[in-house]
Amino acid sequence: MDVFVIEGGRKLSGSLRIKGSKNAALPLLAATLLTDEPVTLRDVPDLSDIRNMYRLLGELGVEVVPETDSEIPSVHLKVTDDSNHHARYDIVKTMRASICVLGPILAKRGHARVSMPGGCAIGQRPVDLHLRGLEALGAKITLEGGDIVAKVPQSGRLIGATVFLGGPFGSTVLGTANVMSAATLAQGTTIIECAACEPEIVDLANMLIGMGAKITGAGSPRITIEGVEELGGVDHTIIPDRIEAGTFMCAAAITNSTLTLTNCPLDAMMSATDRLEAIGVHIDPTDQAQTADPLRRTCTVSATGSLKPIQITTQPHPGFPTDLQAQFMALLCFADGNSVITEKIFPERFLHVAELTRMGSSIHRHGTTAVISGVKTMTGAPVMASDLRASAGLVLAAMAAQGTTIINRVYHIDRGYERLEHRLASVGASIQRLSEEEVAELGLMVE
Ligand code: EPU
Repeated sequence: MDVFVIEGGRKLSGSLRIKGSKNAALPLLAATLLTDEPVTLRDVPDLSDIRNMYRLLGELGVEVVPETDSEIPSVHLKVTDDSNHHARYDIVKTMRASICVLGPILAKRGHARVSMPGGCAIGQRPVDLHLRGLEALGAKITLEGGDIVAKVPQSGRLIGATVFLGGPFGSTVLGTANVMSAATLAQGTTIIECAACEPEIVDLANMLIGMGAKITGAGSPRITIEGVEELGGVDHTIIPDRIEAGTFMCAAAITNSTLTLTNCPLDAMMSATDRLEAIGVHIDPTDQAQTADPLRRTCTVSATGSLKPIQITTQPHPGFPTDLQAQFMALLCFADGNSVITEKIFPERFLHVAELTRMGSSIHRHGTTAVISGVKTMTGAPVMASDLRASAGLVLAAMAAQGTTIINRVYHIDRGYERLEHRLASVGASIQRLSEEEVAELGLMVE
């Protein structure tokens, strides 16, 4: 397993282009199962989760032709064989987001068998709302040998209905994607109440509308879908990744540096930029607001002087995203006072706390709340990446710590950040990927 070796204390400068969003790309790729016509997706990030989704779509009879030779990679997809209905455990266990093929296969092929995803490092992750939503559209759902088996009613199509998707922690992003995708081919009108309002849902709705779906209200808690008989092909550019953008903003802030970000979805990340400004980080758009696409801005992010402590509560969009909680915690380790972070989406998403503590931070966790007392310095240490965003938090802390940090299990980072080490190194960070053999040759301490 590869490791990152990071020397802290380097200033950053220069420019980074934000890649296409992983969490938008995954349900968009799954939605290609809804049509027999060709689909092209542009600005698809080159990530292990995306490659896993290609493998799953391949098993489900989709011809997948990625074009990776340009700076903005595309993929061409076309269903060539619709006989397989089964998303196997082998793939689903490597990537929970495989669940988003359930709605598209069910709606288009009449029945679907998708392995039930297990929990993951950030806690128990049920799919009851996905199933409740599809059942409301008339699907018959059973659990067989660890697989979700779903069938459309005898009429051969799902039937539009009003579906409430609220759960104990608000709505569900992939649940909304599943039900909205399935409802595009249902008979009649579906209304999703308490729909997720995330920008990734709006992007999916825009792609589906491009394919001929009739959807209104995406981005609000009520989405209306009028079913159509079939969907066509589309050429769609994926929105930039707001979580990657937020991570790079934290990188500028934690190293007291200035970075320029291009293709930055400022309009989709106001809760994050609001918190950064409260900390004392400046985010200045440098393009023309009147003519720029609000999801593809150019801005400089700069931090000079001390960081102010703040409070953060993670919430569904447009609240502060749970996917930036660990990165902001790393940043607040260096604030001038006590900060409070409350996690309201995934109550167990705190695995980074112990690793940050190994590096000299002062964090006290009480249930779903962590109190972070800022320290003047942290020191490099061998630490363990536990999940994607926690690992990003460790990379940030390592860039500001004194000395060398070795981050183990960086395959977690490769799931969601494309060539992170190259991109951070290109703006001045000292970060290197080493293979297990190189680590052994150098006699470095890994866990
Ligand atoms: N929930 C239920 N029942 C369900 C579904 C969800 O109780 O049927 C609960 C979850 O346990 C959680 C909350 O509802 O407490 C929200 O979960 P949600 O379903 O919205 O999460 P998701 O759709 O599975 C996506 C992202 C996650 C991101 C969450 C929240 C993708 C591929 N994943 O997951 O991204 O944290 O929304 O915004 O889009 C990441 O990128 O690192 C990541 C984990």
